[in-house]
Amino acid sequence: MNKIIIAIDGYSSTGKSTVARQLADYLNYIYVDSGAMYRAVALFALQNNYLSKNHFDKQSLLMSLPAIKIEFKKEAKNNRADIFLNDKNVEKEIRTMHVSDFVSPIATLSEVRKKLVSIQHKMGIEKGIVMDGRDIGTVVFPDAELKIFMNANTQVRALRRYNELIEKGQNVSFDEILKNVEKRDLLDTTRIDSPLVKATDAIEVDNSETNREDQFHIILQLAKDRIAKRI
Ligand code: CDP
Repeated sequence: MNKIIIAIDGYSSTGKSTVARQLADYLNYIYVDSGAMYRAVALFALQNNYLSKNHFDKQSLLMSLPAIKIEFKKEAKNNRADIFLNDKNVEKEIRTMHVSDFVSPIATLSEVRKKLVSIQHKMGIEKGIVMDGRDIGTVVFPDAELKIFMNANTQVRALRRYNELIEKGQNVSFDEILKNVEKRDLLDTTRIDSPLVKATDAIEVDNSETNREDQFHIILQLAKDRIAKRI
C-alpha cells in the first residue's frame, strides 16, 4: 500500500499532537512532533544560560547549533518515541511552562529553522509519516498528500493545556497559560520566516466543540481517501 505524508498545522493547544498520534497509531505511521524539536533547542539555550528573561545571547546559541543533536528514540516503557537532546531524554523537561515561555522567540531564528527542517525532511523521505507543527504543510512538506489546519477558540485551548499540565503535576495558573498561548500565537503568526499560516490546500478543522473521537474519525476518513487515491 502506498504511504502518504500527513501534515497537521495549527495554533497552540489545538490538539494537533493528539490527533496526529491517533492517526499514526491507526495507520502504523511514524509520528513526529516538530514542536518538540523547537522546544529542545529552547531548553538547550536555557540550560547554557544563553537565554533568560532579560538577556539573549543569540550569537552563542547560533555558534553552538552544530553541536546540538536532536533525535527521537523509542523507550521500551511506553513504546512511544521520546525526544533526546544530546543523548539525554528531555521529553518531560521540554513541556514545562518555562520552556513554553521561551520557545517562540527561538523559533523565529532562521538558522534554527533551517537545521530542524533539514532533519524533518529526512524523516519524511519514505513517507508514512504524520508530522504536526506550524509550517509542515507550507514549508516542510508542501507536497504532503493531506494537510490539516487546526483551530479552536482561545479559551478552550488554554483550558485544555491547563488541564493537561495540572494532570502532569505542574504548578500553573489558567491565566499564565492563556497569556502564553496568546503570546505564542502572535509570535508564530507574525514572524518573518515560516509564519503559521493555513496552506491554500489545507483542510481547516475547528474542534472547539468536537470531541476527540469524532474529530479522529473525520480526519482518518480524509486520510483513507488520500491513501486510496495513491493505490
Ligand atoms: O503543543 P503546542 O501547541 O503548545 O506547541 P508545540 O507544537 O510544542 O510548539 C512549540 C513552539 O514551537 C510553537 O509555539 C512555535 O513557536 C514553534 N514551532 C514552530 O515554529 N514550527 C513548528 N513546525 C513547530 C513548532
